[in-house]
Amino acid sequence: AYDLQLVRSRRTVRVTADQTALQALLGEGIDVPFSCESGVCGTCLTRVLAGEPDHRDSFLTEAERAAGDQFTPCCSRSRTPLLVLDL
Ligand code: FES
Repeated sequence: AYDLQLVRSRRTVRVTADQTALQALLGEGIDVPFSCESGVCGTCLTRVLAGEPDHRDSFLTEAERAAGDQFTPCCSRSRTPLLVLDL
């Protein structure tokens, strides 16, 4: 499990091992646009302000992955206990 800190919403959302970050966000009423839910379309792309995403999508390029300043919450996770998001 890890936590998502939502800077604009001033909230923290816990993501358990059995759910995606997107599911956790939607479950807390945070409105994140999404479509494929499988890391292909990029609709859910969210800006990462701090922490290190564990990219599981096939949308971002290698360079974008390495930059670590955005991730796809529908399928990607976090390598750090806290991921700070621009949400
Ligand atoms: Fe398509 Fe996340 S909803 S990449």
